[in-house]
Amino acid sequence: MEEFLPIILAAGKGSRMRSDLPKALHPLLGRPLLMHVVRTLKELDFKKIVVVVGYKAEQIKASIEEDSLEFVEQKEQLGTGHALMCCKELWTDFKGALLVLNGDVPLLQKETLRNLMEVHLKEQAALTLLTAKVEKSGEYGVILREKGGAIKGIAEITERENTSDPAEINAGVYCFKTAFLNEHLFSLSPNSKKGEYYLTDLIKIAAVKKEKIASYEAPFAEIIGINTRKDLALATSVLKQQVLEKHMLNGVTIVSPENTYIEMDVKIGRDTVIFPGVCLRGQTVIGKGCVLENGTVVVDSVIGNQVHIKPYSVITESKIEDHVAIGPFAHLRPGTYIATEARIGNFVEVKKSYVGRGSKASHLTYLGDAEIGEGVNIGAGTITCNYDGQRKHKTVIEDRAFIGSNTALVAPVKVGEGALIGAGSVITEDVPPETLAIARARQVHKPKKRR
Ligand code: UD1
Ligand code: CA
Repeated sequence: MEEFLPIILAAGKGSRMRSDLPKALHPLLGRPLLMHVVRTLKELDFKKIVVVVGYKAEQIKASIEEDSLEFVEQKEQLGTGHALMCCKELWTDFKGALLVLNGDVPLLQKETLRNLMEVHLKEQAALTLLTAKVEKSGEYGVILREKGGAIKGIAEITERENTSDPAEINAGVYCFKTAFLNEHLFSLSPNSKKGEYYLTDLIKIAAVKKEKIASYEAPFAEIIGINTRKDLALATSVLKQQVLEKHMLNGVTIVSPENTYIEMDVKIGRDTVIFPGVCLRGQTVIGKGCVLENGTVVVDSVIGNQVHIKPYSVITESKIEDHVAIGPFAHLRPGTYIATEARIGNFVEVKKSYVGRGSKASHLTYLGDAEIGEGVNIGAGTITCNYDGQRKHKTVIEDRAFIGSNTALVAPVKVGEGALIGAGSVITEDVPPETLAIARARQVHKPKKRR
């Protein structure tokens, strides 16, 4: 798309969000709003993508790291028209047209943008608008047409009273001939009510100057603009449904779509079954043939094939190999790696630890900073005492060791291959391989005192 230079307007504060976070960074299904628009544009192969930033510009720049982005600063947020004025130098030597997009229209599809640009070129228009028909005009700018159908202007919310009538609205996505902008953008005057330079005032100017105005209509669901948290919830419900449908068509069973939350970037293999109340977030990858039972939460983790996650387990920044069973009520914290055929049972917490092939920690255990070999059995109530109040220390449990119930392993400590630890032990010294270690007071029997 070399004939077009895309410019995203994202300098506004987003006051209606009532938030400390700039609107552009509010996540929609795990991705910042602005990132949705950037990604869609990237699919269209533009040479570069310009983003106008202003409010909390540094924070936005740091959060939206993508190549081919160029940031322009709008120091004072004086309206959408003014935001575009700030980019003037970018098109002085540019022969093509501009594609200008509000940064808060995250559900736009690339086909729609392509069609809009095609209409603009075909009609040889000075400007082309993306529009949609709605039941209630709400806060959107309403397209005004002559009786014959020609567009004559846009009535902004500050310029009209009715918000509940059906209308054709402005999506906030436009193509402009640069020559038209050179002639008219800088003659915009501030809106009398808000004092802002409205980009949309250009439409009336174009109509008065008899410049060609074209339009292209998209479904409303695609052009939802995010001004408030209500809009964000609406966009979330639309996008969430699309994401779930994509997975279902790829062979994932989602028992209750309305009760399932799966973010944009999550990948799931076929024949995986997802029960109600599952939440899959961030850069999570789930393999084939897994079962994720009710209330499973997985964040930024990679899960292999045929993994069974039982109800109410929470897994964060961890990796799980094939044929593993987790939960119910297990907590895998960042840096956990569970090798194939291992089992992590109920009320087991694992942090920054490796659990080897076929090893089991089935009940009530804390494994922190531990390295556990293959075929190890960790008895109920085992605790790695990894923290001395100042530093964390490592516990090593070698292959086939058997840790009796209610053992405290005071790190740094190592349990050798095939060693056996008696129940209730407090292990403070390394245990040699193939050795029985018992570290508790011997049971004594004394005559019962008469009362
Ligand atoms: C705008 C349109 C409206 C349209 C709607 C579609 C105007 C005047 N109105 O209204 O016709 O129906 O979008 O969603 O354009 N921005 C800046 N600098 C500024 C002000 C805003 O970069 O000084 C950016 C914002 O960050 C935002 C975008 O421009 O991404 C739109 O601004 P917003 O205030 O949300 O405009 P709307 O009131 O939604
Ligand atoms: Ca908006």
